[in-house]
Amino acid sequence: MLPGDFQPSRPTNKQLIKWGILSLVSLFFVAVVVGVLMFVISAWLGKPLSVFGYDEGPDQPIAFPHTRHVQELGLDCTFCHRNVETGAAATIPPVGLCMTCHAVAGDGLAEVEKLREVAAAGEAIDWVRVHRVPDFVRFNHSAHIIFFSEQDNILSSEVCAVCHGDVGSMVKVEQARYLKMADCVNCHRDNNAPTDCVTCHY
Ligand code: HEC
Ligand code: HEC
Ligand code: HEC
Ligand code: HEC
Ligand code: HEC
Repeated sequence: MLPGDFQPSRPTNKQLIKWGILSLVSLFFVAVVVGVLMFVISAWLGKPLSVFGYDEGPDQPIAFPHTRHVQELGLDCTFCHRNVETGAAATIPPVGLCMTCHAVAGDGLAEVEKLREVAAAGEAIDWVRVHRVPDFVRFNHSAHIIFFSEQDNILSSEVCAVCHGDVGSMVKVEQARYLKMADCVNCHRDNNAPTDCVTCHY
Protein backbone atom coordinates (compact mmCIF):
# COMPACT_ATOMS: atom_id res chain seq x y z
CA MET A 1 0.00 0.00 0.00
CA LEU A 2 1.37 3.39 -0.87
CA PRO A 3 1.56 6.09 1.83
CA GLY A 4 -0.96 8.80 1.19
CA ASP A 5 -3.69 6.49 -0.11
CA PHE A 6 -5.99 7.47 2.72
CA GLN A 7 -5.45 11.20 2.51
CA PRO A 8 -8.71 13.03 1.87
CA SER A 9 -8.80 14.89 -1.40
CA ARG A 10 -7.85 18.55 -1.16
CA PRO A 11 -10.99 20.74 -1.10
CA THR A 12 -11.43 23.05 -4.06
CA ASN A 13 -11.45 26.83 -3.54
CA LYS A 14 -15.18 26.87 -4.22
CA GLN A 15 -15.76 24.35 -1.45
CA LEU A 16 -13.57 26.34 0.94
CA ILE A 17 -15.56 29.50 0.31
CA LYS A 18 -18.87 27.66 0.77
CA TRP A 19 -17.73 26.17 4.09
CA GLY A 20 -16.43 29.53 5.22
CA ILE A 21 -19.74 31.25 4.54
CA LEU A 22 -21.67 28.37 6.16
CA SER A 23 -19.64 28.56 9.37
CA LEU A 24 -19.95 32.36 9.52
CA VAL A 25 -23.72 32.12 9.14
CA SER A 26 -24.03 29.43 11.83
CA LEU A 27 -21.74 31.40 14.15
CA PHE A 28 -24.03 34.37 13.71
CA PHE A 29 -27.11 32.31 14.57
CA VAL A 30 -25.46 30.80 17.63
CA ALA A 31 -24.53 34.31 18.80
CA VAL A 32 -28.10 35.52 18.34
CA VAL A 33 -29.54 32.53 20.20
CA VAL A 34 -27.06 32.96 23.07
CA GLY A 35 -27.86 36.67 23.25
CA VAL A 36 -31.60 36.06 23.40
CA LEU A 37 -31.14 33.32 26.01
CA MET A 38 -29.00 35.61 28.18
CA PHE A 39 -31.66 38.28 28.01
CA VAL A 40 -34.52 35.89 28.83
CA ILE A 41 -32.66 34.24 31.69
CA SER A 42 -31.55 37.52 33.24
CA ALA A 43 -35.06 38.98 32.92
CA TRP A 44 -36.48 35.83 34.45
CA LEU A 45 -34.08 36.04 37.41
CA GLY A 46 -34.85 39.74 37.73
CA LYS A 47 -31.13 40.39 37.95
CA PRO A 48 -28.61 42.16 35.73
CA LEU A 49 -26.82 39.85 33.29
CA SER A 50 -24.84 37.36 35.29
CA VAL A 51 -22.88 35.81 32.47
CA PHE A 52 -19.09 36.42 32.18
CA GLY A 53 -18.93 37.42 35.84
CA TYR A 54 -21.09 40.51 35.47
CA ASP A 55 -22.63 39.75 38.84
CA GLU A 56 -19.28 39.97 40.56
CA GLY A 57 -18.98 43.35 42.22
CA PRO A 58 -15.94 45.45 41.29
CA ASP A 59 -12.68 45.24 43.23
CA GLN A 60 -12.43 48.09 45.71
CA PRO A 61 -9.25 50.05 46.55
CA ILE A 62 -9.52 48.57 50.05
CA ALA A 63 -11.21 45.17 50.31
CA PHE A 64 -13.92 46.20 52.77
CA PRO A 65 -16.00 43.15 53.76
CA HIS A 66 -19.63 43.88 54.71
CA THR A 67 -19.78 40.33 56.11
CA ARG A 68 -17.27 41.05 58.87
CA HIS A 69 -18.81 44.38 59.87
CA VAL A 70 -22.51 43.54 59.52
CA GLN A 71 -22.80 39.85 60.33
CA GLU A 72 -19.93 39.42 62.78
CA LEU A 73 -19.75 42.85 64.45
CA GLY A 74 -23.48 43.54 64.16
CA LEU A 75 -23.11 47.11 62.87
CA ASP A 76 -26.29 48.68 61.51
CA CYS A 77 -26.37 49.89 57.89
CA THR A 78 -27.28 53.37 59.06
CA PHE A 79 -24.24 53.51 61.36
CA CYS A 80 -22.08 53.92 58.24
CA HIS A 81 -24.58 55.04 55.57
CA ARG A 82 -25.65 57.93 57.77
CA ASN A 83 -27.55 60.00 55.25
CA VAL A 84 -29.85 57.24 54.08
CA GLU A 85 -32.86 58.16 56.24
CA THR A 86 -32.61 61.89 55.66
CA GLY A 87 -31.13 62.51 52.22
CA ALA A 88 -31.15 61.52 48.57
CA ALA A 89 -27.79 59.75 48.72
CA ALA A 90 -26.97 57.07 51.29
CA THR A 91 -23.30 58.20 51.32
CA ILE A 92 -20.18 56.15 52.01
CA PRO A 93 -18.57 56.87 55.39
CA PRO A 94 -15.37 58.96 55.52
CA VAL A 95 -12.06 57.38 56.53
CA GLY A 96 -12.36 59.09 59.93
CA LEU A 97 -15.31 56.89 60.85
CA CYS A 98 -13.37 53.72 59.98
CA MET A 99 -10.46 54.96 62.09
CA THR A 100 -12.58 55.26 65.24
CA CYS A 101 -12.14 51.48 65.36
CA HIS A 102 -9.14 50.84 63.13
CA ALA A 103 -6.75 53.06 65.03
CA VAL A 104 -6.61 49.97 67.24
CA ALA A 105 -8.60 47.13 65.59
CA GLY A 106 -7.11 44.89 62.91
CA ASP A 107 -3.37 45.11 63.62
CA GLY A 108 -1.37 43.13 61.08
CA LEU A 109 -4.19 42.78 58.53
CA ALA A 110 -2.88 43.96 55.14
CA GLU A 111 -6.09 45.77 54.12
CA VAL A 112 -6.33 47.54 57.49
CA GLU A 113 -2.70 48.68 57.17
CA LYS A 114 -3.62 50.14 53.76
CA LEU A 115 -6.53 51.97 55.40
CA ARG A 116 -4.21 53.42 58.06
CA GLU A 117 -1.79 54.67 55.40
CA VAL A 118 -4.63 56.46 53.61
CA ALA A 119 -5.78 57.98 56.91
CA ALA A 120 -2.28 59.06 57.89
CA ALA A 121 -1.87 60.79 54.50
CA GLY A 122 -5.19 62.58 55.05
CA GLU A 123 -6.54 61.19 51.78
CA ALA A 124 -10.00 59.93 50.86
CA ILE A 125 -10.71 56.47 49.44
CA ASP A 126 -11.83 56.31 45.82
CA TRP A 127 -14.55 53.68 46.25
CA VAL A 128 -15.81 52.24 42.95
CA ARG A 129 -19.56 52.83 42.56
CA VAL A 130 -21.66 49.68 42.21
CA HIS A 131 -25.11 51.25 41.70
CA ARG A 132 -25.64 54.36 39.68
CA VAL A 133 -28.67 55.78 37.91
CA PRO A 134 -27.93 58.06 34.90
CA ASP A 135 -27.61 61.82 35.47
CA PHE A 136 -31.07 62.54 34.10
CA VAL A 137 -32.72 60.36 36.75
CA ARG A 138 -33.70 61.55 40.20
CA PHE A 139 -33.52 59.01 43.00
CA ASN A 140 -34.09 59.64 46.68
CA HIS A 141 -33.19 57.15 49.43
CA SER A 142 -34.98 58.78 52.35
CA ALA A 143 -38.41 58.73 50.66
CA HIS A 144 -38.14 54.97 50.12
CA ILE A 145 -36.70 54.18 53.53
CA ILE A 146 -39.37 56.15 55.37
CA PHE A 147 -42.22 54.75 53.27
CA PHE A 148 -41.31 51.07 53.63
CA SER A 149 -40.18 51.19 57.26
CA GLU A 150 -43.52 52.77 58.19
CA GLN A 151 -45.68 50.61 55.93
CA ASP A 152 -44.10 47.31 56.95
CA ASN A 153 -43.18 48.43 60.48
CA ILE A 154 -39.53 47.42 60.05
CA LEU A 155 -36.17 49.06 60.79
CA SER A 156 -34.59 51.30 58.15
CA SER A 157 -31.77 48.82 57.72
CA GLU A 158 -34.26 46.10 56.84
CA VAL A 159 -35.57 48.14 53.90
CA CYS A 160 -32.24 48.10 52.07
CA ALA A 161 -32.65 44.44 51.06
CA VAL A 162 -35.68 45.31 48.90
CA CYS A 163 -33.33 46.92 46.37
CA HIS A 164 -29.83 45.81 47.35
CA GLY A 165 -30.30 42.18 48.40
CA ASP A 166 -28.55 40.81 51.46
CA VAL A 167 -25.52 43.11 51.53
CA GLY A 168 -24.56 41.85 54.98
CA SER A 169 -23.63 38.52 53.43
CA MET A 170 -21.63 39.98 50.51
CA VAL A 171 -17.85 40.02 50.79
CA LYS A 172 -17.87 42.26 47.70
CA VAL A 173 -21.00 44.36 47.09
CA GLU A 174 -22.74 43.44 43.85
CA GLN A 175 -25.95 44.68 42.26
CA ALA A 176 -28.86 42.40 43.14
CA ARG A 177 -31.76 44.09 41.34
CA TYR A 178 -32.26 45.72 37.93
CA LEU A 179 -33.27 49.21 39.12
CA LYS A 180 -33.96 50.22 35.51
CA MET A 181 -36.97 52.31 34.58
CA ALA A 182 -39.47 49.44 34.23
CA ASP A 183 -38.42 48.06 37.61
CA CYS A 184 -38.82 51.46 39.31
CA VAL A 185 -42.16 52.19 37.64
CA ASN A 186 -43.63 48.74 38.38
CA CYS A 187 -42.93 49.10 42.06
CA HIS A 188 -44.30 52.64 42.07
CA ARG A 189 -47.51 51.41 40.45
CA ASP A 190 -47.86 48.54 42.96
CA ASN A 191 -47.50 50.96 45.86
CA ASN A 192 -49.56 53.87 44.54
CA ALA A 193 -46.43 56.00 44.34
CA PRO A 194 -46.31 58.66 41.59
CA THR A 195 -45.48 57.41 38.07
CA ASP A 196 -45.50 60.69 36.12
CA CYS A 197 -42.25 61.38 34.30
CA VAL A 198 -41.19 64.36 36.39
CA THR A 199 -41.14 62.23 39.53
CA CYS A 200 -37.93 60.63 38.30
CA HIS A 201 -36.74 62.91 35.48
CA TYR A 202 -35.55 66.48 35.70
C1 HEC B 1 -18.64 49.75 58.72
C2 HEC B 1 -19.34 50.57 57.77
C3 HEC B 1 -20.45 49.97 56.90
C4 HEC B 1 -21.57 49.29 57.32
C5 HEC B 1 -21.98 48.88 58.74
C6 HEC B 1 -22.35 49.03 56.12
N1 HEC B 1 -21.69 49.52 55.02
FE1 HEC B 1 -22.35 49.49 53.11
N2 HEC B 1 -20.58 50.29 52.46
C7 HEC B 1 -19.54 50.69 53.29
C8 HEC B 1 -18.41 51.08 52.47
C9 HEC B 1 -17.06 51.55 52.99
C10 HEC B 1 -18.81 50.91 51.13
C11 HEC B 1 -17.98 51.18 49.86
C12 HEC B 1 -17.13 49.99 49.52
C13 HEC B 1 -17.89 48.84 48.92
O1 HEC B 1 -18.66 49.03 47.98
O2 HEC B 1 -17.72 47.71 49.44
C14 HEC B 1 -20.18 50.42 51.16
C15 HEC B 1 -20.94 50.15 50.04
C16 HEC B 1 -22.29 49.79 50.08
C17 HEC B 1 -23.14 49.66 48.92
C18 HEC B 1 -22.72 49.85 47.48
C19 HEC B 1 -22.72 51.32 47.13
C20 HEC B 1 -22.53 51.53 45.65
O3 HEC B 1 -21.43 51.89 45.26
O4 HEC B 1 -23.47 51.31 44.91
C21 HEC B 1 -24.37 49.29 49.36
C22 HEC B 1 -25.61 49.04 48.52
C23 HEC B 1 -24.29 49.18 50.79
N3 HEC B 1 -23.02 49.49 51.19
C24 HEC B 1 -25.33 48.78 51.59
C25 HEC B 1 -25.20 48.47 52.93
C26 HEC B 1 -26.22 47.81 53.71
C27 HEC B 1 -27.57 47.38 53.18
C28 HEC B 1 -25.72 47.67 54.98
C29 HEC B 1 -26.39 46.99 56.16
C30 HEC B 1 -26.80 45.60 55.92
C31 HEC B 1 -24.39 48.26 54.99
N4 HEC B 1 -24.11 48.72 53.73
C32 HEC B 1 -23.56 48.35 56.10
C33 HEC B 1 -19.57 50.72 54.67
C34 HEC B 1 -20.53 50.11 55.47
C1 HEC C 1 -17.19 49.59 65.00
C2 HEC C 1 -15.81 49.34 64.65
C3 HEC C 1 -15.42 49.31 63.18
C4 HEC C 1 -15.65 50.25 62.21
C5 HEC C 1 -16.41 51.55 62.32
C6 HEC C 1 -15.00 49.77 61.01
N1 HEC C 1 -14.40 48.54 61.24
FE1 HEC C 1 -13.36 47.45 59.90
N2 HEC C 1 -13.16 45.96 61.26
C7 HEC C 1 -13.51 46.07 62.60
C8 HEC C 1 -13.07 44.86 63.31
C9 HEC C 1 -13.27 44.58 64.79
C10 HEC C 1 -12.45 44.05 62.33
C11 HEC C 1 -11.82 42.68 62.54
C12 HEC C 1 -10.36 42.89 62.92
C13 HEC C 1 -9.63 41.59 63.18
O1 HEC C 1 -10.05 40.55 62.67
O2 HEC C 1 -8.60 41.67 63.86
C14 HEC C 1 -12.50 44.77 61.07
C15 HEC C 1 -11.94 44.32 59.89
C16 HEC C 1 -11.73 45.13 58.78
C17 HEC C 1 -10.95 44.76 57.63
C18 HEC C 1 -10.17 43.48 57.45
C19 HEC C 1 -11.05 42.37 56.98
C20 HEC C 1 -10.24 41.10 56.84
O3 HEC C 1 -10.73 40.08 57.32
O4 HEC C 1 -9.15 41.17 56.24
C21 HEC C 1 -10.99 45.82 56.75
C22 HEC C 1 -10.33 45.91 55.39
C23 HEC C 1 -11.80 46.83 57.37
N3 HEC C 1 -12.23 46.38 58.58
C24 HEC C 1 -12.07 48.07 56.78
C25 HEC C 1 -12.90 49.03 57.33
C26 HEC C 1 -13.25 50.26 56.67
C27 HEC C 1 -12.78 50.69 55.29
C28 HEC C 1 -14.09 50.92 57.52
C29 HEC C 1 -14.77 52.25 57.28
C30 HEC C 1 -15.66 52.30 56.14
C31 HEC C 1 -14.23 50.11 58.71
N4 HEC C 1 -13.51 48.96 58.55
C32 HEC C 1 -14.99 50.46 59.81
C33 HEC C 1 -14.18 47.10 63.19
C34 HEC C 1 -14.62 48.24 62.56
C1 HEC D 1 -35.99 51.66 46.31
C2 HEC D 1 -34.72 51.05 46.11
C3 HEC D 1 -33.59 51.29 47.11
C4 HEC D 1 -33.61 51.09 48.49
C5 HEC D 1 -34.78 50.64 49.36
C6 HEC D 1 -32.27 51.40 48.96
N1 HEC D 1 -31.47 51.76 47.90
FE1 HEC D 1 -29.52 52.27 48.00
N2 HEC D 1 -29.52 52.70 45.99
C7 HEC D 1 -30.62 52.57 45.16
C8 HEC D 1 -30.31 53.16 43.85
C9 HEC D 1 -31.26 53.26 42.66
C10 HEC D 1 -28.98 53.64 43.95
C11 HEC D 1 -28.21 54.41 42.88
C12 HEC D 1 -28.51 55.87 43.18
C13 HEC D 1 -27.78 56.88 42.34
O1 HEC D 1 -27.10 56.54 41.39
O2 HEC D 1 -27.91 58.08 42.68
C14 HEC D 1 -28.51 53.33 45.30
C15 HEC D 1 -27.25 53.64 45.78
C16 HEC D 1 -26.80 53.35 47.07
C17 HEC D 1 -25.47 53.65 47.58
C18 HEC D 1 -24.34 54.33 46.80
C19 HEC D 1 -24.68 55.74 46.42
C20 HEC D 1 -25.16 56.57 47.56
O3 HEC D 1 -26.35 56.93 47.56
O4 HEC D 1 -24.39 56.89 48.46
C21 HEC D 1 -25.43 53.23 48.89
C22 HEC D 1 -24.25 53.33 49.84
C23 HEC D 1 -26.73 52.67 49.20
N3 HEC D 1 -27.54 52.76 48.06
C24 HEC D 1 -27.09 52.16 50.43
C25 HEC D 1 -28.39 51.85 50.81
C26 HEC D 1 -28.78 51.50 52.16
C27 HEC D 1 -27.84 51.41 53.37
C28 HEC D 1 -30.12 51.27 52.14
C29 HEC D 1 -31.04 50.93 53.30
C30 HEC D 1 -30.99 51.80 54.48
C31 HEC D 1 -30.58 51.47 50.75
N4 HEC D 1 -29.49 51.83 49.99
C32 HEC D 1 -31.88 51.31 50.29
C33 HEC D 1 -31.82 51.99 45.48
C34 HEC D 1 -32.25 51.71 46.76
C1 HEC E 1 -39.58 48.54 45.96
C2 HEC E 1 -40.42 49.56 45.36
C3 HEC E 1 -39.75 50.75 44.71
C4 HEC E 1 -38.72 50.74 43.83
C5 HEC E 1 -37.96 49.53 43.27
C6 HEC E 1 -38.47 52.11 43.49
N1 HEC E 1 -39.33 52.95 44.16
FE1 HEC E 1 -39.34 54.99 44.10
N2 HEC E 1 -40.79 55.06 45.46
C7 HEC E 1 -41.47 53.96 45.96
C8 HEC E 1 -42.54 54.40 46.83
C9 HEC E 1 -43.53 53.52 47.56
C10 HEC E 1 -42.50 55.82 46.83
C11 HEC E 1 -43.43 56.79 47.56
C12 HEC E 1 -42.83 57.28 48.82
C13 HEC E 1 -43.76 58.26 49.50
O1 HEC E 1 -44.96 58.24 49.19
O2 HEC E 1 -43.25 59.00 50.33
C14 HEC E 1 -41.38 56.19 45.97
C15 HEC E 1 -40.99 57.51 45.73
C16 HEC E 1 -40.03 57.89 44.82
C17 HEC E 1 -39.67 59.24 44.52
C18 HEC E 1 -40.28 60.50 45.12
C19 HEC E 1 -39.43 60.97 46.24
C20 HEC E 1 -39.89 62.28 46.75
O3 HEC E 1 -39.11 63.22 46.67
O4 HEC E 1 -41.03 62.36 47.24
C21 HEC E 1 -38.69 59.20 43.55
C22 HEC E 1 -37.98 60.35 42.90
C23 HEC E 1 -38.47 57.81 43.25
N3 HEC E 1 -39.29 57.03 44.05
C24 HEC E 1 -37.57 57.35 42.30
C25 HEC E 1 -37.31 56.00 42.06
C26 HEC E 1 -36.36 55.54 41.06
C27 HEC E 1 -35.59 56.40 40.10
C28 HEC E 1 -36.34 54.17 41.18
C29 HEC E 1 -35.52 53.18 40.38
C30 HEC E 1 -34.09 53.42 40.29
C31 HEC E 1 -37.27 53.81 42.21
N4 HEC E 1 -37.85 54.93 42.72
C32 HEC E 1 -37.50 52.51 42.59
C33 HEC E 1 -41.18 52.62 45.72
C34 HEC E 1 -40.15 52.15 44.91
C1 HEC F 1 -40.10 55.67 39.00
C2 HEC F 1 -39.09 56.35 38.23
C3 HEC F 1 -39.30 56.69 36.78
C4 HEC F 1 -40.43 57.20 36.18
C5 HEC F 1 -41.77 57.52 36.82
C6 HEC F 1 -40.09 57.43 34.79
N1 HEC F 1 -38.79 57.02 34.56
FE1 HEC F 1 -37.81 57.14 32.77
N2 HEC F 1 -36.14 56.27 33.62
C7 HEC F 1 -36.04 55.90 34.94
C8 HEC F 1 -34.73 55.30 35.16
C9 HEC F 1 -34.20 54.78 36.46
C10 HEC F 1 -34.06 55.33 33.91
C11 HEC F 1 -32.67 54.86 33.59
C12 HEC F 1 -32.66 53.45 33.14
C13 HEC F 1 -31.27 52.97 32.87
O1 HEC F 1 -30.49 52.83 33.80
O2 HEC F 1 -30.98 52.74 31.70
C14 HEC F 1 -34.99 55.97 32.95
C15 HEC F 1 -34.69 56.19 31.61
C16 HEC F 1 -35.53 56.86 30.75
C17 HEC F 1 -35.20 57.17 29.36
C18 HEC F 1 -33.91 56.83 28.66
C19 HEC F 1 -34.04 55.60 27.86
C20 HEC F 1 -33.87 54.38 28.65
O3 HEC F 1 -34.80 53.54 28.69
O4 HEC F 1 -32.81 54.19 29.28
C21 HEC F 1 -36.26 57.83 28.83
C22 HEC F 1 -36.40 58.36 27.42
C23 HEC F 1 -37.28 57.92 29.87
N3 HEC F 1 -36.78 57.33 31.01
C24 HEC F 1 -38.51 58.52 29.70
C25 HEC F 1 -39.53 58.54 30.65
C26 HEC F 1 -40.87 59.06 30.41
C27 HEC F 1 -41.35 59.68 29.12
C28 HEC F 1 -41.58 58.89 31.59
C29 HEC F 1 -43.04 59.22 31.87
C30 HEC F 1 -44.00 58.49 31.08
C31 HEC F 1 -40.65 58.26 32.54
N4 HEC F 1 -39.44 58.06 31.93
C32 HEC F 1 -40.98 57.95 33.84
C33 HEC F 1 -36.99 56.07 35.93
C34 HEC F 1 -38.27 56.57 35.74
